[in-house]
Amino acid sequence: MKTRPFQAPRDRLAATGSEPEQPASRGVPPARVWKVLEVIGVSGRYLEDRGVESGRLNAEHLLAFVLGVDRLQLYLHFDRPLVAGELSRLKALLRRRAAREPLQYLMGSAAFRNLELEVGPGVAIPRPETEFLIDVVSAAAGRERVFAAALDVGTGSGCIAIALADEGLARAVTATDVSQDALELARRNAAASGHPEIEFRSGPMLDPVRGLTFDLVISNPPYLTAEEWRSAQPEVREWEPRLAMVADEGGLAVIRGLVEGLEAVVRPGGWVGLEIGRSQADTVAGLLRERPGIAGVSIHRDLAGRRRYVVATRE
Ligand SMILES: C[S@@+](CC[C@H](N)C(=O)[O-])C[C@H]1O[C@@H](n2cnc3c(N)ncnc32)[C@H](O)[C@@H]1O
Repeated sequence: MKTRPFQAPRDRLAATGSEPEQPASRGVPPARVWKVLEVIGVSGRYLEDRGVESGRLNAEHLLAFVLGVDRLQLYLHFDRPLVAGELSRLKALLRRRAAREPLQYLMGSAAFRNLELEVGPGVAIPRPETEFLIDVVSAAAGRERVFAAALDVGTGSGCIAIALADEGLARAVTATDVSQDALELARRNAAASGHPEIEFRSGPMLDPVRGLTFDLVISNPPYLTAEEWRSAQPEVREWEPRLAMVADEGGLAVIRGLVEGLEAVVRPGGWVGLEIGRSQADTVAGLLRERPGIAGVSIHRDLAGRRRYVVATRE
């Protein structure tokens, strides 16, 4: 998202930095002037009281969004007063956040590695764990390696595919999804990020790429069980698409479908990198080890120490 330089509203803050002028009419009490620091404090407590984790941080993001500035700018302008329109826009967003609508949907964007991507209801929000999947695969394959052709299965917002192209980690990138909403959004994100060359294809698992081969197949597929979905945070359960999160067969159906088709799509010497659920590492590693031609299966931890990735190579 583009931000503009931080500017105090002209009618409230004199150029000298003195106190805001008050209305002259007698008998009418001046409207309360809310300043950035107080607004952050009150809004953060409001969100936390309603069960939102990291309420203050959420409040800062929303206030920065309303003011059209970078969040860190708020710290340089704690005394900046807010005008009525800004306050009412912020209040409306705070109410929606308190109803557990995800912050990224409210702002319409999410950060992913070096990218700022459009996100919206109907498409999964990119997560930090998925940013790290790219590092894990890249480290396993050798940091200098540039993949000639990469495939991202279940691309969602397009985050993995676009990051691979944007960081020069792959020369040609193909991305697939079963969701038309996701593909539309991913195409917009690819164009907006300067990568209209990424090829998007529609369909389940590896069906859309039959007959093609790649030297990287990467995926963050749906892997939650129905039970995990039911106990997920309201932000996930009530707002993100179930199709993006939940898979049959104890969360393994899509992963299994992918693994079964790998020999046909991964070139000899190529790599596979999967993000998986917390308790699936051994099962997924086992599925990969059973496949002819797949070797070097390894399990990797996320930054919180959880076993969240499985990587393998094609002999
Ligand atoms: C967890 S989301 C990941 C989205 C994105 N790659 C990311 O990391 O944010 C899983 C994605 O897989 C897609 N999906 C679900 N079932 C699929 C299937 N059988 N074949 C291909 N994609 C599928 C969903 O539509 C969703 O976009």
